[in-house]
Amino acid sequence: MSNLDTLVADTLQTLERIAAEYSPAVFASSLAAEDMVLTDLILKNRLGIGIFSLETGRLHKETLAMLDKVKERYGYDIALFRPQQEAVDGYVTQHGLNAFYDSVEMRRECCRIRKVEPLGRALAGNKAWITGQRRAQAATRSSLAVHEDDPAHLMDKFNPLADWSEQDVWDYLRIHDVPVNALHAQGFPSIGCEPCTRAIEPGEDVRAGRWWWENPESKECGLHVVDGKLIRIKSVAA
Ligand code: ADX
Ligand code: SF4
Repeated sequence: MSNLDTLVADTLQTLERIAAEYSPAVFASSLAAEDMVLTDLILKNRLGIGIFSLETGRLHKETLAMLDKVKERYGYDIALFRPQQEAVDGYVTQHGLNAFYDSVEMRRECCRIRKVEPLGRALAGNKAWITGQRRAQAATRSSLAVHEDDPAHLMDKFNPLADWSEQDVWDYLRIHDVPVNALHAQGFPSIGCEPCTRAIEPGEDVRAGRWWWENPESKECGLHVVDGKLIRIKSVAA
């Protein structure tokens, strides 16, 4: 078996175990490359794991187009969780539409309203949730385990692609002809909200285009807890 075949077999085994032992379990999809690997494995193998996306109201049109592509390919409707309108209106009225550029605190508050609070609603009633995080993606993910405890949501959390390299992800997507976000071909290896994601130059770190005005240590949106606590925020880069 090739290295990729072994990774795929191990990952499928993890997903089958989650479906058998942690039902109901859900998969959080940002509709980017890693998450399309898991979407393909979950839907093709009919694992009965639900898939949702946090529709922040600030996603690229290319990301939203993935919802239709998934529907076309797999006949599956990804569930959407949106922020509370009053909370969005309050932030925008008080601080401005793009106040997240002003400070890490303002950025985290926007992520809290548009991602973290809706995530809580998406996870409610489940025994475990699944993400597409990989160890090689970021300094904050270097010790990521496949199976962890999520104290913030009081449930188990799985990162079945923790061991995968970026090459593994793209090899899988190509071999299985999985639909992918059009932005990847335009220099976006990592995709979040439109105003907080830019294309990267060749040789730049894969997450260099996410919240590029901040330090690498603060580049998490609050969806993920590291070492039992929300990751430490350092001062904003000049
Ligand atoms: S993050 O900092 O935005 O969380 P990244 O884009 O690398 O980082 O996403 C990591 C994982 O978080 C994804 O694989 C996915 O499981 C989850 N995730 C991120 N954004 C969303 C979203 N908008 N909807 C659902 N899940 C998401
Ligand atoms: Fe707001 Fe940017 Fe966070 Fe999206 S990524 S929720 S626009 S701060």
